[in-house]
Amino acid sequence: MDNLLSIAQLSNEEIMSIINKAHEFKEGKVEQFNGYAANLFFENSTRTKCSFEMAERKLGLDVIPFETSTSSVTKGESLYDTAKTLESIGVDVLVIRHSQQDYYKELVNLSIPVVNGGDGSGQHPSQCLLDLMTIYEEYGTFEGLKILICGDILNSRVARSNHEALTRLGAEVHFAAPDYWQDKSLNADYVAIDDVIEEIDVCMLLRVQHERHNGAKTFEEAHYHHDFGLTGERYNKLKERAIVMHPAPVNRGVEIESQLVEASKSRIFKQMENGVYTRMSILSHILTKGDK
Ligand code: CP
Repeated sequence: MDNLLSIAQLSNEEIMSIINKAHEFKEGKVEQFNGYAANLFFENSTRTKCSFEMAERKLGLDVIPFETSTSSVTKGESLYDTAKTLESIGVDVLVIRHSQQDYYKELVNLSIPVVNGGDGSGQHPSQCLLDLMTIYEEYGTFEGLKILICGDILNSRVARSNHEALTRLGAEVHFAAPDYWQDKSLNADYVAIDDVIEEIDVCMLLRVQHERHNGAKTFEEAHYHHDFGLTGERYNKLKERAIVMHPAPVNRGVEIESQLVEASKSRIFKQMENGVYTRMSILSHILTKGDK
């Protein structure tokens, strides 16, 4: 594996190899690398940025601090020149989040690997892989699982990556979303949440992506919660073994009733915990090119 830009580049075998190695790290496997990593986040982040930094440090990498607000990006330096600069000074791997979809296509001339930490509404492959790890940890398979992905599908890179990967791995993926947040370009099955709530194995809620709505007030929070949110009533209808997921940050009381965020079926903080091991595995696969 030379880089990680999208889920489409990974075979099912590579996905399983990343998940399995993430489990090994979780169980205490130690692997150490010499080298330098830099995390270039042109969009805000708590989980992805801190989790990559934790993964890098656990693998023995030195992390070169980079903040867009104090960098020469503020003087107009381009993404390519910024990345090329870090390559020139000796950074070995870049993790990049950027609002521009497919931003990484500008970086094909770099000779160091790039890990996509999210590209606009495009892809979020490391989030997808940590979600897959969390589901696999629970069920030991993807085959035949019924998965509901509910919310702002149109603007969600998480929905795109997860739909693609889960379908390929044999799960049955359904979407629930208001008309204005449905993405008709995805060959997906849209359902009413109440028609499937009793049958699903995974209830994956998506964050309402206010920052991608260009200021338009397209919805009313209470109505959204009533029609598409995980309420206590819906939670009680879930199968005993069903799990609740959300990539976070959570809009409490909108996508999910606040007290359900840490309810027994919720795996929201488990996803964050697994994110560190998944990102260690991603970096390890890239830095060893899958040799280890
Ligand atoms: N899930 C996720 O990508 O969270 P952050 O935006 O905080 O990184």
